[in-house]
Amino acid sequence: MRPRVAVLISGRGSNMAALLAAARLPGFPAEVSLVVSNRPDAAGLALAQAAGVPAQVVESRGRPREAFEAALDSALEAAGIRYVALAGFMRVLSPAFTAKWEGRLVNIHPSLLPAFPGLDTHARALAAGVRLHGCTVHFVTSGVDEGPIIAQAAVPVLEGDDEAALAARVLQQEHLLYPAALGWVASGHAWLEGGRCIVAAKGAGAALSNPLPDVPGLPTQAGSE
Ligand code: GAR
Repeated sequence: MRPRVAVLISGRGSNMAALLAAARLPGFPAEVSLVVSNRPDAAGLALAQAAGVPAQVVESRGRPREAFEAALDSALEAAGIRYVALAGFMRVLSPAFTAKWEGRLVNIHPSLLPAFPGLDTHARALAAGVRLHGCTVHFVTSGVDEGPIIAQAAVPVLEGDDEAALAARVLQQEHLLYPAALGWVASGHAWLEGGRCIVAAKGAGAALSNPLPDVPGLPTQAGSE
């Protein structure tokens, strides 16, 4: 039986939808068995229901973090969940929760960590003038946006980009990267060891996309004359 995965969301749910689509493919090594939102108004809940995946609200607002996390943990255990994928889940989880799920809890973040942890990553990348930006899938540890990196995808920052254009370019990569990284973890091809992530998956090198623009007079990226 394929390991059961829960996807945790707080909003739109486009990464969740990408994971659901991947998990419907016959060869995908995990099954998405549960979607949990900490907000009742998350748009992603309707997407999960439409896809026929059990979707549940475990409300975080208005109660202590311990109570929220106890309810979340019960929902995950009741559904026989092996792996948890945070997908736009905007609550910080306690060290007790991340320790319990260590090695089985992953997150996607819209920057090339360790650059730009936290919020507003695209605006901050533009303000910093970086030429490469992107997204990271990592194991979750007690530090926010800090855990061992599983995979990253880079995109160029182009002249004239605004926050929306850059966010859209990154999001496209998120939807490709997250299913690949989750698949590696669920199939035992990526794991935590000594505080780092080892990836032993075929095609893992393709997780970094770094296209350079063609410059007249210079060799192309492939090194051809
Ligand atoms: C995604 O860009 C995800 O990387 C980001 O929120 C967005 C959620 O979109 N996550 C974080 O910023 C977590 N620190 P989605 O709901 O459409 O997947």
